[in-house]
Amino acid sequence: MAPLRRPVLAANWKMNLGPTAASAFLESYLSHYAARDDRTVILFPSAIAFSSARHAAEARPDIQFGVQNVHSAEKGAFTGETSASMAQDAGARFVLIGHSERRHVFGETDALTAEKMSRVASQGLAPVLCVGEKFEERENGETNEVIVRQLRAAFEGLLENDASVLGTVVIAYEPVWAIGTGRTAHPEDASAAHAAIRAELSASAGSIGDSIPILYGGSVTALNASTLLAAPGVDGLLVGGASLDPESWAAICNA
Ligand code: PGA
Repeated sequence: MAPLRRPVLAANWKMNLGPTAASAFLESYLSHYAARDDRTVILFPSAIAFSSARHAAEARPDIQFGVQNVHSAEKGAFTGETSASMAQDAGARFVLIGHSERRHVFGETDALTAEKMSRVASQGLAPVLCVGEKFEERENGETNEVIVRQLRAAFEGLLENDASVLGTVVIAYEPVWAIGTGRTAHPEDASAAHAAIRAELSASAGSIGDSIPILYGGSVTALNASTLLAAPGVDGLLVGGASLDPESWAAICNA
């Protein structure tokens, strides 16, 4: 029997919701979402709103927090950057790595993604690794090739350092053409990509690979969340735009 993975609902706020807005968001969201022990909710505020958001959720230990990015170095002269240890000190448990905006807007390579994976892992934080193909790659039938390449590169960085951390990893399949476009993947296409990811995880990490949750992300809304969550192989959702409204995010978390 396939392992039962508890659904993960993750909100990526990107460069939205500053400290004041984040705190107001939490007040409203928490009144619409009561703690549930059958799912995990993770919020990824901006670095500058992180502490404010976390403070606003103090009474709700069921809400977990992560940061959207860290630098690959331990510390140093990197103006404007955040380190993994600073993120941990602020209360983060998760770190988004390899998000398509980091890869395709900021030019982060597979190699840098691998460095960040090992940095985050050695700090004891859980990497949420994003993988996904661009539109042309899907059109050319290269979807599985791209996601397997991204997974192998990222895990290489991890296995070299600390194999025990594999059990903390979360994967998010986010087809680039579906992010912020209103074009959601068909549930069957999401399932097919998730199956390819699962096969690769099982091959490279055995039974630990079987337990890694695989989230879908890309134009998820309160209207399509239940259908996507019900798709075979989809263990949760990573949500951008629709996570910025407290009621719509609460509806997704209750899906
Ligand atoms: P979206 O973003 O839900 O706005 O498409 C998802 C993501 O980039 O994580």
